[in-house]
Amino acid sequence: MKFYNKVALVTGGTSGIGYSVAERLMKEGAKVVIVGRNVEKGEKAIQKLKEIHSDVMYLSVDISNSNDVKKMVRKTVSSFGKLDVAFNNAGNAEGKPALTHEYSEDDFDKMMGVTIKGVWLCLKYEIQEMLKTGGGAIVNTSSLDALICSAGTTAYAAGKSGVIALTRAVAQEYGTYGIRVNALTPGAIRTPMIESKFQDLTIEQAKLLEDKYSNFNAAGRIGKPEEAAAAVIWLLSDEASYITGQNIIVDGGVSFIN
Ligand SMILES: NC(=O)c1ccc[n+]([C@@H]2O[C@H](COP(=O)([O-])OP(=O)(O)OC[C@H]3O[C@@H](n4cnc5c(N)ncnc54)[C@H](O)[C@@H]3O)[C@@H](O)[C@H]2O)c1
Repeated sequence: MKFYNKVALVTGGTSGIGYSVAERLMKEGAKVVIVGRNVEKGEKAIQKLKEIHSDVMYLSVDISNSNDVKKMVRKTVSSFGKLDVAFNNAGNAEGKPALTHEYSEDDFDKMMGVTIKGVWLCLKYEIQEMLKTGGGAIVNTSSLDALICSAGTTAYAAGKSGVIALTRAVAQEYGTYGIRVNALTPGAIRTPMIESKFQDLTIEQAKLLEDKYSNFNAAGRIGKPEEAAAAVIWLLSDEASYITGQNIIVDGGVSFIN
């Protein structure tokens, strides 16, 4: 029970990597708030998580909106008394990939709003609470696109690179206050985000895409959400007590091959 009596906040916690982390945190004894944008998805996730125990709650939040984020942290603390650990994981690769000269300013602002401002807002309000109780641990989700950039994803890549820089700077600011901040950089992990890329493909096209993801790494396959979650759980736990400002890459070896 590594997180017994701890209170945790997981953004993007209704599916994929975030859901897997929420599930592990609960199994290790934490009270958990999961955050997403879709009430129906949130309620489904809560129904399943309540099979572990009942100290879990869903909040609908747009992390790019400061009022939403303030309320999210306030509601967590008023419901469960404090905030010990946070996984700032919400993000999306929504919108069609487009070359820079064709990408709209509006899409760029939206992407930065979620990817950078959203993580920054979460950090700002979470840290205010953690300072009151003498510490905490935070993990922010970046992406392999931050390290191996591909054409057509400039804004996402820039935003996710920013998450790594933000993580290092904030880790430096709060290390002596007992707050550790690390980043997770996933490669291809089989979640709704990756599954959406297979939508509308023929069986042959889907096979080609699966091969592309799999051949691209040393493991020869797409990763599972629980494999990314295992790294996050370790970083959030006291076992990683001397680890801060790091970026942990969970990518089946893509980044050392390429
Ligand atoms: N799956 C992958 O291969 C992969 C690879 C690299 C990085 N990532 C990153 O991992 C994180 C989790 O994604 P996932 O793969 O589990 O996909 P997912 O689609 O299951 O989860 C994304 C979650 O983020 C939430 N979200 C998106 N925008 C939001 C907003 N503005 N406010 C609040 N919530 C919002 C969604 O509701 C959803 O719950 C994302 O940040 C993503 O960029 C995923």
